[in-house]
Amino acid sequence: MTDEKTFIEDYDRNVVTSFGKPFPLIVVQAEDVFLTDLKGKTYLDFWAGIATVNAGHNNPKIQRAVKEQLEQLVHCSSHSYYTLPALELAQKIAEVAPFKPCISSFHTSGSEASDVAIKMVRRYTEKHEVLTLQGSYHGQTYGARSLGTPVAAYSKAFTMGPFLPGVIHVPTPYCYRCSLGHTYPSCHLQCAKMIEDIINFSTSRNVAAYMAEPILGVGGIVTPPPDYFREVKKILNDHDILLILDEVQTGLGRTGEMWGSQVYNVKPDVITLAKALGNGWPISAVVASQPIGDAFEVGDHFSTWGANPVMCAAANATIEFIVENKLWENAKEMGSLLIRRLKEVEEASGIVGEVRGRGLMIGVEVVKDKKSKAPGGEECKAIRRACYDEGLLVGAGGFWSNVIRIQPPLTIEETHVERCMEAFEKAVKTVEKQRRSHPI
Ligand SMILES: Cc1ncc(COP(=O)(O)O)c(C=O)c1O
Repeated sequence: MTDEKTFIEDYDRNVVTSFGKPFPLIVVQAEDVFLTDLKGKTYLDFWAGIATVNAGHNNPKIQRAVKEQLEQLVHCSSHSYYTLPALELAQKIAEVAPFKPCISSFHTSGSEASDVAIKMVRRYTEKHEVLTLQGSYHGQTYGARSLGTPVAAYSKAFTMGPFLPGVIHVPTPYCYRCSLGHTYPSCHLQCAKMIEDIINFSTSRNVAAYMAEPILGVGGIVTPPPDYFREVKKILNDHDILLILDEVQTGLGRTGEMWGSQVYNVKPDVITLAKALGNGWPISAVVASQPIGDAFEVGDHFSTWGANPVMCAAANATIEFIVENKLWENAKEMGSLLIRRLKEVEEASGIVGEVRGRGLMIGVEVVKDKKSKAPGGEECKAIRRACYDEGLLVGAGGFWSNVIRIQPPLTIEETHVERCMEAFEKAVKTVEKQRRSHPI
């Protein structure tokens, strides 16, 4: 094997990396909460392949299920024939889904699931407009990107329009930086209430659905207040508008509940799933209440790899593992511990503006200083890099790339939290010190 520097040079010459420059880390192996690099150094992975391996890396149960399915059938095009794992998966999802009766369709990415959800509600309602949140992220196909808005690293990508017409972006319940200048709860949820005016004055009253992430992931773990979605739902009901929740990041235990919708005590009509569904295998789902899913007609959607048997087998084992081990409970417990410890860092630090989140979906918003709240994009990057130097991998996101994202596997234990906090505290102190001597 070549040395790391030569490998990375060869890689950059041969593989397109310009759309997402990787960290200078060559990962060769993984186990549960750890990744190992080319030199054999291990890293505590508190981003879990972007909030994906909820059941831990290389989970033995899921590995076994995949190997067994590999011996049976890899592919036949499950949108052309019936296959056993797809039915099993739909039934497993139906058992745990946040609404009943429901029906599922299976795809290969979260972006595709976003597209399918929009097609489905358009077909069902015979209306075409969609409301989504400013700063939301629903993926990168042209449909999915049309739903989201420019955030952080993706901002430039939004010059690649034109995008899908009929998408109307509504204010985000981002209380740390309320775009209406209000403070929760004295705001009486004005950001939700004004959706009524937006429907009346900024649409052609042809709105099929409102779509949102229960907690914005890429947008920087923006965590709406507890009563936000219930307020929105009242308005949607009055206007006969469906609620789609994008549970690609929040679903399957991450927030300390099985579903993000449970955190907000709201019943969606459609949810999209991806990431954790296959615990690293590429599968996504659109789960719709029965009549909405049934509205699809031949030709409305198709993909060669949709409902692939191996991916469905991985997802079946993943759901079983999450349910058997009640991983959401561990997410809640470890999440509370992490948030408590991170809040102590917030208290002591001049550049940690806010720690927020639910369960193991945690954001640390970095600022230049707490008074101005000017977004600390460079500081955030430096903290992430300093964590890496300490053997801790965390993510980044936020409207200005200024939020550290902490989204580990839901299998973590207290020792991992301690190890994370040791590295994180040190990283924040290092960056604060650097900043004092060489202001960024
Ligand atoms: C909330 C949300 N929806 C959709 C997507 C798109 O998923 P994928 O990258 O699998 O296309 C993502 C990806 O980060 C996401 O966070």
